[in-house]
Amino acid sequence: MRLSVIGCGYLGAVHAAAMASIGHEVVGIDVDARKVEALSVGEAPFYEPGLGEILSEGIASGRLTFTTDFSAAKGAAVHFVAVGTPQQKDGYAADLTYVNAAVDALLPYLSPGDVVAGKSTVPVGTAAGLAPRIEAAGSTLVWNPEFLREGFAVQDTIDPDRLVVGVAADGVVAGDVLREVYAPAIAKGTPFIVTDLATAELVKVAANAFLATKISFINAMAEIAEVTGADVTQLADAIGHDVRIGRRFLGAGIGFGGGCLPKDIRAFSARAEELGRGESVAFLREVDEINLRRRDRAVQLVVEGLGGAVFEKKIAVLGAAFKPHSDDVRDSPALDVAVRLHGLGAKVVVTDPQAIDNARRLHPQLTYEAARDEAIRGADAIILVTEWDEYRRELAPEHASSLTDGRVIVDGRNGLDAAAWRAAGWRYAGMGWP
Ligand code: UGA
Repeated sequence: MRLSVIGCGYLGAVHAAAMASIGHEVVGIDVDARKVEALSVGEAPFYEPGLGEILSEGIASGRLTFTTDFSAAKGAAVHFVAVGTPQQKDGYAADLTYVNAAVDALLPYLSPGDVVAGKSTVPVGTAAGLAPRIEAAGSTLVWNPEFLREGFAVQDTIDPDRLVVGVAADGVVAGDVLREVYAPAIAKGTPFIVTDLATAELVKVAANAFLATKISFINAMAEIAEVTGADVTQLADAIGHDVRIGRRFLGAGIGFGGGCLPKDIRAFSARAEELGRGESVAFLREVDEINLRRRDRAVQLVVEGLGGAVFEKKIAVLGAAFKPHSDDVRDSPALDVAVRLHGLGAKVVVTDPQAIDNARRLHPQLTYEAARDEAIRGADAIILVTEWDEYRRELAPEHASSLTDGRVIVDGRNGLDAAAWRAAGWRYAGMGWP
């Protein structure tokens, strides 16, 4: 099938390349000429395992192209709208500027019978507002939210755990067109759920709200564990054996960040307020607050570890990305902890295998060091804030001891072997531990 993908950021670039890899002919369209140039030669504009390969294959096959010219959308059977919906600068609501601009730019090139499939994460009710403009062009709007995780984006797009398509009352045929787009995944048994437009929009924000709540739940338990001498990791293991609860997303630590969970729970709160149902999701404010408090706690553990003050102490911060396998530093708890320690007068040295360039652009005031061991050399304290294997599995306490006389380690992700660090003479502190 011929497809167009409007917006070639995280979501769009991966979607375009993944759709080409399953045999479609895809044009990716973005207003950012530099991004289009990079993608056109098979370069991923961000770190995402496997994306470079499918970009190059798609381009070599002739099935995948990128352009800034919206007229290239003409002739595609399905147009995916995959632009960003960031948090508004002066509030919690989602900024829909890019979604509206994408639809406006696409309208002149729609043909009767085309399907426009919204993929962006939007406040419930957005699709119903956009539909009349698209219907006036003889096309149909469906909503097809995306559930990919950064770091696993290619796999999640080609082999999703479910496909959700929201259609208007008369949009069943358009839903079937999406069934054709995703035929390979459906053939492998991926559930294909057809809903109305509002439900599809809500499925996306509800999923992210639930995941954020799960993380903040375990972090709330970590706060209780800290004052009772309990161990939050054992607690998570024990409750996680109950299949109704499940162990995943019960990793206590410095909490969630990134371009999705934080802004999505805020946009959800804002939308619920607009709908007169603010109280229904009032708990999301608490989820947000618990999450942000864990960053304070991590800083506090470093301060305590160093005897009450970090001023002029060298602190090695292991990690800048909001999670491993990503170079994304948007709303990164790791980087926020580094900034807070810097603000207290510490000599912070941040290291990360992928995210240093992005981190430096955002926080040029911090010192960055690509080599892990150089960051650690001579440090008074180490704090692990992104659980890359380089830090979590591959950093032996004895090796760290050979690099510095400092003996304070704070585990912001509860990923280290506490017993091994303690046995090697380190003062280890985790999140939600005795
Ligand atoms: C999230 C969702 O997981 C995806 O399903 C969704 O499609 C995506 O947002 C989106 O809306 O586009 P992502 O932002 O890539 O994906 O990251 P996650 O893997 O969800 O992790 C989010 C944050 O939670 C990270 O900072 C991670 O370190 C933290 N986290 C995760 C924890 O603190 N504890 C855990 O147990 C799990």
